[in-house]
Amino acid sequence: MTGEYVVRPPVAEDAPAIAATHVRVWREAYAGVMPQDYLDGMDVEKSVAKWRLIIADESAAATRKRSDPVVKVTRIAEHIATGDVIGFATFAPARDEDPPTPGELWAINILAAHHGSGVADQLMAATVGDRPAYLWVVEQNLRAQAFYRRHGFGVDGGTSVHEVTPTREIRMVRRSGSGAQ
Ligand SMILES: CC(C)(COP(=O)(O)OP(=O)(O)OC[C@H]1O[C@@H](n2cnc3c(N)ncnc32)[C@H](O)[C@@H]1OP(=O)(O)O)[C@@H](O)C(=O)NCCC(=O)NCCS
Repeated sequence: MTGEYVVRPPVAEDAPAIAATHVRVWREAYAGVMPQDYLDGMDVEKSVAKWRLIIADESAAATRKRSDPVVKVTRIAEHIATGDVIGFATFAPARDEDPPTPGELWAINILAAHHGSGVADQLMAATVGDRPAYLWVVEQNLRAQAFYRRHGFGVDGGTSVHEVTPTREIRMVRRSGSGAQ
């Protein structure tokens, strides 16, 4: 039920909660897919520091005039009943050379307990909106691929290997704006 969540920009105080959720989602989503050593070694404290920088950068960028067609935007989802940060998404300028669209969905991560609740749709609406976009998704991640297909994305044949883990990823693209139903 979408009324259960507030989707909002993160503030500095959210960094520890976002980092904890980020690490937990990866451990839930990629057990048996990515090397367990890598998942066990994910460091919440390091992630907190990264998130502090991300939040500070985005807050500063929001007050600057930007000529880029895509401005980096992160939104977090807070579960109203518990006050917990249960997910986040980031849409931002493409990181690849020669990208299929100017904007890339860098990440969307939601704790498993909140899958199927509609909060992922809320996060997509608040970040990508109805714009063209692309993303990289782990080949075995069929749930995410089904979710993206419902939002109008399709595989375009692009493949890659995650630089750290190394896990195979495929590219999904939505060239002409939202096809979400
Ligand atoms: C990807 C993610 C944001 C999607 O949010 P969600 O709430 O789970 O998505 P929804 O429940 O709205 O949609 C999932 C779809 O997958 C389908 N699905 C579920 N399990 C599936 C499976 N094993 N194989 C194929 N499809 C599956 C569901 O039926 C649903 O399809 P439908 O809407 O056509 O019925 C969320 O699952 C998540 O954060 N996962 C962990 C992290 C992750 O994988 N992030 C994406 C990285 S690219």
